[in-house]
Amino acid sequence: MSLTMINMLVDLDERLWSRARPGLYRETLDRGVVLHERQGVTPSQRAWLRGTFGGLWSDEVSTGYAWFATDWEGRELGFAAYDCKLDFPWLRRWRAQPDVGIFGPMGVAESERKHGLGSLLCLLALQSLQRQGYARALIGAVGPEAFYERVCGARRVEEFPRAQVVGAGLQHVLQSVATGKWRNR
Ligand SMILES: CC(C)(COP(=O)(O)OP(=O)(O)OC[C@H]1O[C@@H](n2cnc3c(N)ncnc32)[C@H](O)[C@@H]1OP(=O)(O)O)[C@@H](O)C(=O)NCCC(=O)NCCS
Repeated sequence: MSLTMINMLVDLDERLWSRARPGLYRETLDRGVVLHERQGVTPSQRAWLRGTFGGLWSDEVSTGYAWFATDWEGRELGFAAYDCKLDFPWLRRWRAQPDVGIFGPMGVAESERKHGLGSLLCLLALQSLQRQGYARALIGAVGPEAFYERVCGARRVEEFPRAQVVGAGLQHVLQSVATGKWRNR
């Protein structure tokens, strides 16, 4: 495992969808995937996020917006969040820039990967940031660098120690325990 993590930046311009496979949106709907965008998370989405990805993602996504994908029966398949508000040190200087929106986290259930769902959810969330007027999006604490390069042309803009991410996670847990939020998750 690498000892460093990176931040990536994406230009939200007219080329946003240019790398997507033609027909990706239609094909995804045709195989029965349902897409919807919402603010925060439902209790069952929170439980799915916690059970599938662990860590802080369920807390993080509950503070922002996300595109979710489900099957016809409502089972969660994937998500891509944006505008989440947890305060992480590696995001601070980017949040201060008015033309930069904050993307992530995102994830796809293991059984659903490699069919293009990650690409589609990523592009939908970036497009939502674009529609809010942001010119660029920051993808923090990555993760699958080649995936983001491939899907949206994101480029690496800085590198920082993985320990910073672990430390921020611990701090969030301690704060949640102190305020009683952890018990009610
Ligand atoms: C990263 C992730 C969202 C990709 O979802 P997915 O549905 O498999 O993505 P897609 O099928 O749209 O893949 C698009 C392309 O990226 C490539 N790709 C997918 N996952 C990749 C990875 N982890 N690293 C590098 N390339 C990857 C695919 O091979 C595909 O390339 P192709 O079009 O040339 O075939 C998924 O693997 C995941 O949930 N991982 C765990 C959570 C995670 O790491 N989230 C990101 C946090 S920063």
